Amino acid sequence: MKKNNVFELPSMSSALSLLGMATLVEDLKHENKKISEQAARTILKALDCKDSYTFGHSMRVGYFSLVTGVEAGLSTDEMVELELSAIFHDIGKIGTPDAVLNKPSRLTEEEFGIMKEHPVKSYEILREFPHFEKIALNTLSHHERYDGKGYPQGLKGEEIPLAARIILIADTFDAMTSTRPYRKGLPYEVAFEELLMFSGSQFDPHLVKLFIQGMKKEALKGEKDFFIPLMAKKFVKDAA
Ligand SMILES: [Fe+2]
Repeated sequence: MKKNNVFELPSMSSALSLLGMATLVEDLKHENKKISEQAARTILKALDCKDSYTFGHSMRVGYFSLVTGVEAGLSTDEMVELELSAIFHDIGKIGTPDAVLNKPSRLTEEEFGIMKEHPVKSYEILREFPHFEKIALNTLSHHERYDGKGYPQGLKGEEIPLAARIILIADTFDAMTSTRPYRKGLPYEVAFEELLMFSGSQFDPHLVKLFIQGMKKEALKGEKDFFIPLMAKKFVKDAA
């Protein structure tokens, strides 16, 4: 503060009101975060009502992604972004017709086209959240392949956001290892081999290594469940 060319310290009362403002801003941030998290849980509840398999799958993809994130040495903020992107990756399936989503047999070309719209739908739902811009973009890219042959944009290599490259591995691993009414899930070791086989074409090879490394450490812990911070609860690992 400048008065007659002399710098003065703020008075005690203005310092206190600045402190009051700072506290208010912090309270508002905290309140905003709480509201965003509640809204996020509400949307996930809608997904659970629509298709409980996709809800459980989303939680497991969250867990597998976080395991990879730890191995990759991501920061706390990056881990939060990864967690939300992973558990919301398939939220666009809310807009996929049940006849396509739950079809036990092979999809026709037309049905597959409808199914392939879900990353764009995930993006459109999530970009409505003011702070979810990056998360929306990560979900948009979760079916992009490392070799550029994925969809919807055909992004290649590191053009694909890191979180999306991690989610693709976690997503494919869960699809291979979870048991469905029409087929039994593969053992983890067999699924690791499959990931390695498509490492460098479908998947980022470095991230495949980190994922397998992380999952082997997880197996040593021998825990039956995993924790998802946003949901503030544990889920059983067994996908059956
Ligand atoms: Fe997906």
